[in-house]
Amino acid sequence: MTAAAPAALTTDQLGILGRAVSRAPSVHNTQPWRLQPRGTEIDLVERLDVELRRHDPDGRDRLLSCGAALTNLVLAVRVLGRDCHVEYPDDVAATVTIGRPRPASAQDFALYHAIARRRSHRRAFFHGRVPAAVRTAVVTAGETAGVHVVAPAHLEKLAELLGFATRVLRDDRGYQRELARWTTHTHGWAAIGDGVPEAALSTEALPVAGLVRTDTPVPDDVVLASRLAAENLLVVCTDGDTRADRIAAGAALERVWLTATAKALVGSVLTQPLHLTGFRARLVSELGLPGVPQAIFRFGYPAVPSAPAPRLPVGELFPPADRRG
Ligand SMILES: Cc1cc2nc3c(=O)[nH]c(=O)nc-3n(C[C@H](O)[C@H](O)[C@H](O)COP(=O)(O)O)c2cc1C
Repeated sequence: MTAAAPAALTTDQLGILGRAVSRAPSVHNTQPWRLQPRGTEIDLVERLDVELRRHDPDGRDRLLSCGAALTNLVLAVRVLGRDCHVEYPDDVAATVTIGRPRPASAQDFALYHAIARRRSHRRAFFHGRVPAAVRTAVVTAGETAGVHVVAPAHLEKLAELLGFATRVLRDDRGYQRELARWTTHTHGWAAIGDGVPEAALSTEALPVAGLVRTDTPVPDDVVLASRLAAENLLVVCTDGDTRADRIAAGAALERVWLTATAKALVGSVLTQPLHLTGFRARLVSELGLPGVPQAIFRFGYPAVPSAPAPRLPVGELFPPADRRG
């Protein structure tokens, strides 16, 4: 007797997956993804219509964002009590095939519950003294084949590079116009939309600022190096820089972030400087990184809460069946 084929998900279950995906972090909160369910398969589709020509000309951060959404999607499938496996066809970011019933692990539950609490914390930390075992758990959460999560040494070099990035980005008018278009005034749990809420941004220097704007202070290199040393910094690196590497980096970044959230930590991501010409090569050579840097993650314990960013309606994630991309 052959076992029955795995059942497709119900509409309610698809709603749960949609909400988990929707809460993933994304570049400028563009939410550049859609979900396309087909029986027991779900395509995570990269929205190529979402373009950030100045910040993300080659769509690297868009793929990282899809990777982060993939982590949330897989966690939601597992918490629904189903096994799944992931493939990476060329025409979509990923295809998740839903398998047979399988109880979720305690770790899956912990990370799934962190999805709704995770948010970008562009604030100074109360303190960054994170116990070694917690730090190790956060780092390990991102380590997968081809992805390396490392705490950078030579913070004085990193401070110099971030100071340079601040000056370039502050003065780049085209860049700043695009960033202003993606800065919004909606925030709070009920807020609907995309873009980064003004309330979630900061008037401080990097690394707290997260996004350099026209009025972001240029830090003194020595002061910045000491601030970096007081935080916990991780760089997510990949062996290569292919489409698959970028999706894997985004997936790893979200696992790191959710693990930190589950342990009462808060954090924020920096990719903005990594888009400056030659910046990633200098990071590799000056910090001795083990691969291509894709994102910097800073984390610590919070002094103040941070506001949630809005999200597009979950229904918009599910386009008509014949629409892709
Ligand atoms: C690939 C990627 C790149 C990002 N780059 C930055 C960045 O350079 N600076 C920053 O402050 N936030 C950055 N973010 C965070 C997003 O702005 C944030 O996830 C989004 O606004 C949604 O807000 P939330 O994280 O609070 O849910 C990035 C997120 C992703 C996934």
